Amino acid sequence: MGVNNSIKEIIMRLNETVYQALNNQMAMEYTASNIYLQMASWADSRDLSGIASFLNEHAEEERTHMRKIFDYISERGGEPRVQEVPAPRDQYKDVAELFDAVYHEEKSVSDSINKIVFLAWDQKDLATFQFLQWFVEEQREEEALASQIVGKINTIGTNGQGLHLIDEYVGGLVGNA
Ligand code: FEO
Repeated sequence: MGVNNSIKEIIMRLNETVYQALNNQMAMEYTASNIYLQMASWADSRDLSGIASFLNEHAEEERTHMRKIFDYISERGGEPRVQEVPAPRDQYKDVAELFDAVYHEEKSVSDSINKIVFLAWDQKDLATFQFLQWFVEEQREEEALASQIVGKINTIGTNGQGLHLIDEYVGGLVGNA
């Protein structure tokens, strides 16, 4: 009886609205992971091994973000729900368009995280509010990194040798993200 009571008590700790928002965020992280994985395939099939490595690493990272939220929901007594996500886009005009898409994806994730931060605050769920601070910081770094790459592409360009230089540059970022 004691065990059942304590389980019920834990379930009560996660507000339904926050729970739904966190579940949706899991789907968003999973979507981002698939987008980057598909982008890695695009880059790999064009012999852009540095860019492919970077995107593969990033895809893994997004999956760990999903997992982090999964574990948190679970720890708070909720049952995480893995949702169906749309198939990612698989065609890009060029590397510039691809990294523009990375940057926009990161901005969308940041917007979504920020909304849940405010929601958690509104619901007086300080545990979730605090949990999400890690994501706020992570998004700041990821946006900065994506914007740095977009800037480099704009400066160097991707014609002729430029594409090789960009591939080397982005490949050099692997392990530093
Ligand atoms: Fe986990 Fe880059 O969003």
